[in-house]
Amino acid sequence: MKKLRDLQQMKDAHEKISMVTAYDYPSAKQVEAAGIDMILVGDSLGMTVLGYESTVEVTLDDMLHHGKAVRRGAPNTFVVVDMPFGTVGIDLATDLKNAKVLYQQSGANALKVEGGHLTSFIQQATYLGIPIVGHLGLTPQSVGVMGYRMQGATKEDAQKLIDDAQAVAQAGAVALVLEAVPSDLAQHISEQIEIPVIGIGAGKGTDGQVLVYHDMLNYGVERTAKFVKQYGDFSNGVAALKQYGDDVKSSAFPSEQYTYQKQIMHEVEQER
Ligand code: KIV
Repeated sequence: MKKLRDLQQMKDAHEKISMVTAYDYPSAKQVEAAGIDMILVGDSLGMTVLGYESTVEVTLDDMLHHGKAVRRGAPNTFVVVDMPFGTVGIDLATDLKNAKVLYQQSGANALKVEGGHLTSFIQQATYLGIPIVGHLGLTPQSVGVMGYRMQGATKEDAQKLIDDAQAVAQAGAVALVLEAVPSDLAQHISEQIEIPVIGIGAGKGTDGQVLVYHDMLNYGVERTAKFVKQYGDFSNGVAALKQYGDDVKSSAFPSEQYTYQKQIMHEVEQER
């Protein structure tokens, strides 16, 4: 498993870091088998596997449930679990209590929090021994306020992102996710701060990249953002299921190949 110091060394050596989301045992197994450096149990699971409209409905219990499954599927990969909406940014004591539960019970290697306003929390959690990954730029938990659009597009917003990134790093964050920002800004931030910066929709100048499993494999998604490249196509599951339904109706399934052939009924009849 990659350790924090390995990830830092990768940044320092300009070796790119790969990260993919996973939400359950089989997807975690696949991501680990593919040799991806880091797994994110993102609260995007609200949309990808729970069918919610946004990440806002995701609970601490949801993250625990999925985080534990991912840990079982990928015991040898660095796993980051999201702190969901409303579990951090309340008051420091509550935030730390939630972080402790999620970190201790999920088996995560680090927790991720959204926004530049959580530096005190990052400091205290780090002090307690919980590694924290920051998340700036488009932060989906605030979509009700900021919408789903590129961030850092004016010089004031860009400067605020630079300041926030520095503050998050100084507070002790072990890495930073930067979402939907102009690529020159993302590259600048990656060069300015010491910790690894993992981009999504942030161009190639960051220290690594993260994509959402369901987006990149076209698995149950209707549309994807401009920055998503599809590396596979799991949508053909529908055709397979339709074929199965037709085969059941026509009795083409199960054929002999899928049937236990032992004849038992004549023995039962003899007993009667
Ligand atoms: O929840 C998630 O999947 C994320 C990624 C978009 C970075 O936070």
